[in-house]
Amino acid sequence: MSKTRKQDPAPTGATVPPDPGPAGVSRRRLLGGVGAAGATGLVLGAGGGAAGYAATRSDAPTALTAVGSTEAMFHGKHQPGITTPLQARGHLVAFDLVAGAGRKEAVALMRRWSALVRELMAGRPAGGSADGPGHDTGIALDAGPSSLTVTFGFGRTFFARTGLTSRLPAALDPLPPFSSDQLDAKRSDGDLWVQIGADDALVAFHALRAVQKESAGTVKVRWQMNGFNRTPGATARPMTARNLMGQIDGTGNPKPADEDFDRRIFVPASPGTPQEWLEGGSYAVVRRIRMLLDDWEKLPVDRQEQVIGRRKADGAPLSGGSETTAMDLDKAGPDGRLVIPDNAHARISSPEKNGGAAMLRRPFSYHDGISEDGTPDAGLLFVCWQADPFQGFVPVQRKLDRGDALSPFIRHEASGLFAVPGGAAEGEYVGQRLLES
Ligand code: HEM
Repeated sequence: MSKTRKQDPAPTGATVPPDPGPAGVSRRRLLGGVGAAGATGLVLGAGGGAAGYAATRSDAPTALTAVGSTEAMFHGKHQPGITTPLQARGHLVAFDLVAGAGRKEAVALMRRWSALVRELMAGRPAGGSADGPGHDTGIALDAGPSSLTVTFGFGRTFFARTGLTSRLPAALDPLPPFSSDQLDAKRSDGDLWVQIGADDALVAFHALRAVQKESAGTVKVRWQMNGFNRTPGATARPMTARNLMGQIDGTGNPKPADEDFDRRIFVPASPGTPQEWLEGGSYAVVRRIRMLLDDWEKLPVDRQEQVIGRRKADGAPLSGGSETTAMDLDKAGPDGRLVIPDNAHARISSPEKNGGAAMLRRPFSYHDGISEDGTPDAGLLFVCWQADPFQGFVPVQRKLDRGDALSPFIRHEASGLFAVPGGAAEGEYVGQRLLES
């Protein structure tokens, strides 16, 4: 999926060794007029401080670090941004087709978006003439591809608007309501969904602006959410990420090396069915889950660990071992009580307790400032991937809804379900197999 090695292994993606040296960088823009500025940033980083700006300025091109030079592949069996390792920055955006826009306009948009994203993911500027309306904003000049991925999905409402209801898969039925839902309809659902991720904030924002500009006149933004994860290289060794509650989050995820990974995450070939076009695709469930951090942070660490069923420091199950040791759900302590409590989040959500139901959780954290009540508006932009949401997210969330020890500390505030087509082959645009079926 990506051309250079990433440091954060979860979720994993196929990688090949870095392509070091100025030759690799020249593929991008450093040999152009902006090369000096790109190199300057690197020299300053090494030289340590703004005071040295003039003194350390150098016009000699320098290799990008692995963070900047890593490139995810646009073409492939699956779209990028599903098994790609978590990125440091993310934008989730849902769009609705404007009145009067139908299939023809949707085809043209997906063509334009695909052509644009292929360029951006390779670290090249958006097309268009230098001074025309389509010209590049310049926001990502000097930066490498920085693991940029852009992933496209279709919501249930897209099918009626484009006259494609015969292609609407049953798995796009609306998610059932859950008793603890406090959903905001304005920040939920949408005809089209775009997930943008990159290891650099400017590269991610550049892609967001370019995608929005390219869509003008065909769709309008319904909602947008912005998130983040740990920056690659911030930890001394590659490790599973932490969320804003401080927990190691992602341990139990299915791994691409698992024998049944593809079957659980990607839609299989299904000739003659309404989801034939979705082969190699997946379903994304998106939930904005607010964390009630003021309440959570009042809990002593041992109570926090009981809520999850894993140790906070290293993610090991309370039944013992290290992060990767399987949970022993039957183990009792000297007092005869289960060491991983009955209502612990990791117990209730485990595939073992849900008839094998599994999903690939690939979230971003978010922080949108302070709410009117003075508490942080922060939490998880929970994104999970599965071959069928009614075999993955739905049964697990039903169970969590009934008795998860984490429930008093979280609030589901927005929701979306999107069918994400397989990757575009060379010469194809994303969604072509649906839109031209
Ligand atoms: C803010 C909300 C949430 C937080 C903070 C959270 C946190 C965690 C943590 C710390 C773990 C243990 C480590 C790991 O295996 O990743 C975990 C496991 C898991 N969570 Fe969540 N979670 C949240 C919401 C959800 C939701 C909504 C679902 C799905 C409906 C879910 C499904 C799972 C699953 C499937 C596991 C793995 C269980 C296993 O394999 O044993 N989580 N979660």
